Amino acid sequence: MKFFVDTADVDEIRALNELGLLDGVTTNPSLILKSGRDIMEVTKEICSIVDGPVSAEVTATDYEGMMSEAAVLAEIADNICIKLPLTLDGLRACKALTSAGHMTNVTLCFSANQALLAAKAGATFISPFIGRLDDMAIDGMEVISEIRKIYDNYGFTTQILAASIRTVNHVKDAALIGADVATVPPSTLKALVKHPLTDKGLEAFLADWAKTGQKIS
Ligand code: E4P
Repeated sequence: MKFFVDTADVDEIRALNELGLLDGVTTNPSLILKSGRDIMEVTKEICSIVDGPVSAEVTATDYEGMMSEAAVLAEIADNICIKLPLTLDGLRACKALTSAGHMTNVTLCFSANQALLAAKAGATFISPFIGRLDDMAIDGMEVISEIRKIYDNYGFTTQILAASIRTVNHVKDAALIGADVATVPPSTLKALVKHPLTDKGLEAFLADWAKTGQKIS
């Protein structure tokens, strides 16, 4: 499973990238707002830190507007992935951009049928939003399972990018189902390493090691 980080915070992105944990980045208009930075400037900086796909989202809602914004975003760097909303215009733009050789990420997906349309439009990534479905008492992970089954039935190559991840169990469950990618907030990504028995075991090993009086050198 590939890990993308879901943030426009360059300090977080740099730190995670140095750990060797990052395969890409996703941003959205809300994350750009949170960063307090100019979209072009911050996206360029993110693209210079990470080698993998960096999703930058269009904000136009009509096909022509999306295509013109996509042309501007695509100029930022070679690893830009154009993020488009799951609307009829978004799907049309997805088809055109994919055909022109761009990476595309169709976002705001909440059903298997929407994901089927995105695959037919040639999307590189489909982003089903798990947490926002769970918030409405709909099982977000079930939608990931349905999409996996449908894509496998027909051999679609669109990658399932599990999004709106809120917990470490979301990451585990998406991996068990076979989602290709998880885009995860920095705090949740770092929380994947945590286990109390790891901390307790390390503490005991270090205490015993101190008693040996030895050094590895
Ligand atoms: C995905 O690309 C989105 O940026 C993101 O995962 C949305 O997550 P949220 O529901 O926590 O805002």
